[in-house]
Amino acid sequence: MATAATITRSDTRRRRAPRPGCLWPSAGSDPDALGCICGHLARLGDRGGREYPDCAMPELAPVEALRRLLRAQVEALRGIPLGRLVTEAAAAQAALDDDALATLLAHRERLVPHLIGQAAELRRLGEDAATRFGRQLRERNQYASWDEAAHASLVGLFTAYYRRLGEVLATAGGVEDLREGLLPVDAGHTARLGRFAQSRSRDVGAEAMADTVASEYSVGLQLEVLRIEPRALGSPILDVGCGPSALLVHHLRNLGLEAFGLERSPTDATYVQVGDWLETDFGLDRWGSIIAHLSFTNHFVLHHRDSETVAARYADAYLRLLRSLQEGGCFCYAPGVPFIEGLLPVDQYGVSRWEILSGPDDAPIEAVRVERRR
Ligand SMILES: C[S@@+](CC[C@H](N)C(=O)[O-])C[C@H]1O[C@@H](n2cnc3c(N)ncnc32)[C@H](O)[C@@H]1O
Repeated sequence: MATAATITRSDTRRRRAPRPGCLWPSAGSDPDALGCICGHLARLGDRGGREYPDCAMPELAPVEALRRLLRAQVEALRGIPLGRLVTEAAAAQAALDDDALATLLAHRERLVPHLIGQAAELRRLGEDAATRFGRQLRERNQYASWDEAAHASLVGLFTAYYRRLGEVLATAGGVEDLREGLLPVDAGHTARLGRFAQSRSRDVGAEAMADTVASEYSVGLQLEVLRIEPRALGSPILDVGCGPSALLVHHLRNLGLEAFGLERSPTDATYVQVGDWLETDFGLDRWGSIIAHLSFTNHFVLHHRDSETVAARYADAYLRLLRSLQEGGCFCYAPGVPFIEGLLPVDQYGVSRWEILSGPDDAPIEAVRVERRR
């Protein structure tokens, strides 16, 4: 679990830079290296949106090729709306193409043992795919709930699929035979992924697992909506759900203020802790200001409407956020959460609010500032 101390730690993770002029690593002296499959890999590069026509392709180990091919297959799921993953058309769209199948067949003696024999490699492939698909799901639907159990069941889905892929590959007579044999396997797999995606959204309504990408807003708009004058903010400042670019955090730091962010989506932004606000220990009497623009309270409102259980966790996190303020500190957020603001003891918290939009049925959507008095 995250701690308050780790919030202040700069996240220094960086993507590894590709080798100059070539995206793919060399197999080097790997005994698995069998032959060059540049054509197929170049096509995978296409699907990933980048092409490296001048890349002098070194030999590539079939197992590494398999990993890349399966990653590209997970990546291709982005092209299918989340709500449609359960359909057969989705399975056809997500299926490996004939070039990929030919690559698998060409190297099957090497690959089949990895898929059905060697538990460690199968587990690695399943973990890798589950991590990538889980990240994709959270990027595509900001309300998707996530925990270790969800990750574990996703690993189970992918390892079962890869094992079946290995079994069909072991006995296929050719590309066509392999394609035919995989049809029902692909259909079952994508449908299971679709149902898994729906299960992640059950707390916010059955139809809710659609692509609902979370936007990031300009610094000017955030400051205006929340009526924040940066130099009047108490320090340190925490932006909860700051967005992967952490625009406001960096703006405040450029002004010389001590600002940090918390964000669930993967990000390389500095001064941002990657984590879930429901799981984070914000500390006590720690923050001079906390900001949450269309983030924490937006989710709180949604869950308050749809799920008592999750809403109770949000209420707990909301109170922990208030307790993590220093005396005189402020929590500035939008939208408002009137169902809990009205319950705050007036001798401890001062609440001010202003309308930012008229909502459904003309109920106003407000921005709110809660000041901790003592
Ligand atoms: C609509 S965006 C707003 C981002 C930023 N505050 C802005 O105004 O530009 C909401 C952000 O909350 C993040 N988020 C969603 N659920 C979260 C959670 N459980 N813990 C931490 N961040 C979360 C999303 O990844 C997203 O970046």
